[in-house]
Amino acid sequence: MPELYHTMGQFFLSKSLTSVLEQRKSIRSYGAGSISAQQLGEFLYRCARVRKIVPREYMECSDRPYPSGGASYELELYLAINICEDINPGIYHYCPKNHLLEQISPKNDYLEALSINAQKVNGEDCWPQVLMIITARFARVCWAYESIAYSLILKHVGVLYQTMYLVATAMNLAPCALGTGNPDLFAAATGIDYYAESSVGEFILAKQ
Ligand SMILES: Cc1cc2nc3c(=O)[nH]c(=O)nc-3n(C[C@H](O)[C@H](O)[C@H](O)COP(=O)(O)O)c2cc1C
Repeated sequence: MPELYHTMGQFFLSKSLTSVLEQRKSIRSYGAGSISAQQLGEFLYRCARVRKIVPREYMECSDRPYPSGGASYELELYLAINICEDINPGIYHYCPKNHLLEQISPKNDYLEALSINAQKVNGEDCWPQVLMIITARFARVCWAYESIAYSLILKHVGVLYQTMYLVATAMNLAPCALGTGNPDLFAAATGIDYYAESSVGEFILAKQ
């Protein structure tokens, strides 16, 4: 279980919000070298960690860097890692509460298939260093939002995409959102019950 790095100190050396907004762009081709575990850890910490648990009358909620309707936080992050310094290739789940990666499987044919899919829609020859697969745990949002739950989930994906774009830009990493994924393949790769939790977004992160 790789422990992830983060430091609050670097946040304050960050670029201004305006320069991050102005510099933000999708980057689909990379130079030499690969993203490191340290960069990946800091990226996840800045985008998606649980900042604190907030007990509410109806359920335990959390506080995170990005907003979420009703503090549902139904989105989860899975990482299909092909090339990352100090982390073995494989499929991982990001635990936002403990800021850890939990390995689901080592490098296998599913990792390859998910990566080939992402490479195709990315439209470039670059092999994805880290493919982030965003899933929704439907029950967390459906119990309250019923008929608008699915549209709310997709709005949340947009919110998270933008947070990821801005953090990646601030860290000089190469981000690119993807509009297509393969929930069947993700379910087969992880063994997760398709009806409880499916993939709803994908995002490639790499060293520039
Ligand atoms: C929801 C969403 C889906 C996207 N899907 C893809 C995609 O499938 N493949 C891709 O290469 N880029 C994808 N992009 C990136 C867009 O192509 C890119 O944001 C757009 O061309 C504007 O360029 P910029 O991000 O460099 O400003 C997507 C972006 C968003 C927000």
